[in-house]
Amino acid sequence: MKRIITYGTFDLLHYGHINLLSRAKAMGDYLIVVLSTDEFNWNEKQKKCYFSYDVRKQLLEAIRYVDLVIPESSWEQKNTDIAEYHVDVFVMGDDWKGKFDFLSGKCEVVYLERTPEISTTQIKNDLFSNSR
Ligand code: CTP
Repeated sequence: MKRIITYGTFDLLHYGHINLLSRAKAMGDYLIVVLSTDEFNWNEKQKKCYFSYDVRKQLLEAIRYVDLVIPESSWEQKNTDIAEYHVDVFVMGDDWKGKFDFLSGKCEVVYLERTPEISTTQIKNDLFSNSR
């Protein structure tokens, strides 16, 4: 069984996220999503999520491509996650290109092209400015 892992916040779930998850799952058999906790987002990324961790997790678990959702609470946990879950491929969108090459001794590292013109930030900005 080929195991894939990916990390993110996945707030205000959108089609860019679905495209990423669909392509990640297509690379193997079992997809693990490591989902940033609310505390991690706030403390490390200065981001306040619209949906709580529990809601974001519930939405991801409803997606057919996703097999398991676990919490991300530190930058350093990637090495232990990869070992613990016997991960074959680490996948991220290419906004992270090169940032995780240090994991390539542990598993394959792949950066997928981001879906253009959509992001959580974009949705928030558009709704806030009421421009659509
Ligand atoms: N992603 C993608 N295409 C998009 C938006 C996100 O492929 N248009 C990918 C990211 O590259 C990442 C994963 O989806 O691998 C989760 O991204 P996340 O940061 O949670 O979503 P964004 O919409 O980029 O959120 P933000 O605007 O807060 O950065």
